[in-house]
Amino acid sequence: MGDKKNNTARLREIKRFNNKKYREHTKLSRRKNIEPSQYLTEMKSPDSILEIENLCTYFYTDVGTVKAVDGVTFNVPKGKTVGVVGESGCGKSVMSLSVMRLLQEPQGQIASGEIRFRQSSENRAVNIPNLPLKEMQKIRGNEISMIFQEPMTTLNPVFSIGAQLDESILLHNKGISKKDAAKRSIEMLELVGIARAEGIYKGYPHELSGGMRQRVVIAMALSCNPEIIIADEPTTALDVTIQAQILDLLRDLKNKINASIILITHDLGVVAEMADFVVVMYAGRIVEQGTASDIFHNPQHPYTVGLMKSRPTSHGQQEKLYSIPGSVPNPTDLPDFCYFKNRCEFCMDICGQKYPPLYKLSNTHKAACYLCKDEKSKFEGGVFSE
Ligand SMILES: Nc1ncnc2c1ncn2[C@@H]1O[C@H](COP(=O)(O)OP(=O)(O)O)[C@@H](O)[C@H]1O
Ligand code: SF4
Ligand SMILES: [Mg+2]
Repeated sequence: MGDKKNNTARLREIKRFNNKKYREHTKLSRRKNIEPSQYLTEMKSPDSILEIENLCTYFYTDVGTVKAVDGVTFNVPKGKTVGVVGESGCGKSVMSLSVMRLLQEPQGQIASGEIRFRQSSENRAVNIPNLPLKEMQKIRGNEISMIFQEPMTTLNPVFSIGAQLDESILLHNKGISKKDAAKRSIEMLELVGIARAEGIYKGYPHELSGGMRQRVVIAMALSCNPEIIIADEPTTALDVTIQAQILDLLRDLKNKINASIILITHDLGVVAEMADFVVVMYAGRIVEQGTASDIFHNPQHPYTVGLMKSRPTSHGQQEKLYSIPGSVPNPTDLPDFCYFKNRCEFCMDICGQKYPPLYKLSNTHKAACYLCKDEKSKFEGGVFSE
């Protein structure tokens, strides 16, 4: 009886807190005349096009605050590919939706942190969370475009492929004629490896296979010459052979266009061949980050090592896939010690006392694990060798 009463009081408390957060957010988002000084900023590194610093994105839900992204910091250098990897529910999509400002508001909010974007078209740097909506709309789908997992979320079933591509090209290339837009659309379809591009141009989304649709979506994302492409699990909904083809396409495009790519996936194998840098996320935080070589040849965090072990083999033999035992902790009730503790075979006393800091292992490589406290890697000596 007492428990039930406590629970009701707790839920009422959550509701009150959420309402306060919603009101604050609505007030902020309705602001008129936002001064440029509120969103203009400086990039910290001359090489980067996007700098995410201490990003916290929370969902204020009926059962409590979901800390979907909680203090994430990484840079996207110009022209490079950054792979963001982690199991389902680790905050990868919420992180990218925060960059696009496409969160489900007011439940989902960027609670704090900066997302600095070098907006070369305007010769300035802006802090995305503070941008007025109108300015954000200019960036979205124009300078930063996103490829979603399920192509039908991007394609409209009632319009032809050509009409949708033309519309995107006309919107993003001021002054271009309809005829030139159509020509460009066909070129884009050819660029993404579609044979008989003219026929496909006249076709409708439902007439295409999943792999072809995803190619069309990629053509659409490229049609505005974006500076950054965010690909959120672009191959997950496809079967294995088509997955490989789409990855080949992305890899090929990476060399043809000068865009930076954020490639989000739960599969380390996918980023292995494409990424220059890798960020490993676990329960809303970065647990390890480094160059692709740091992560693949010298993984330090037991979670990264687990992800490596659960990679499917490329020989096509589908043996029983290893999966890390246990599951991600409840995002509304995260402990103040290492989130991986209950799944970690290397757990020590200190792991249950305080959340580990990100230890710097080299100029490029960091990991949030007490095993990295001493400079000498504890994984040396073949602990993790097969
Ligand atoms: N609209 C939402 N409302 C409440 N919680 C959400 C919402 N969207 C995502 N979350 C939560 O945020 C966390 C991160 O989700 P997500 O970024 O989608 O994970 P990933 O893309 O890594 O699989 C999860 O715990 C998920 O349940
Ligand atoms: S800090 Fe401790 S529990 Fe966490 S991953 Fe490292 S060794 Fe495992
Ligand atoms: Mg996702």
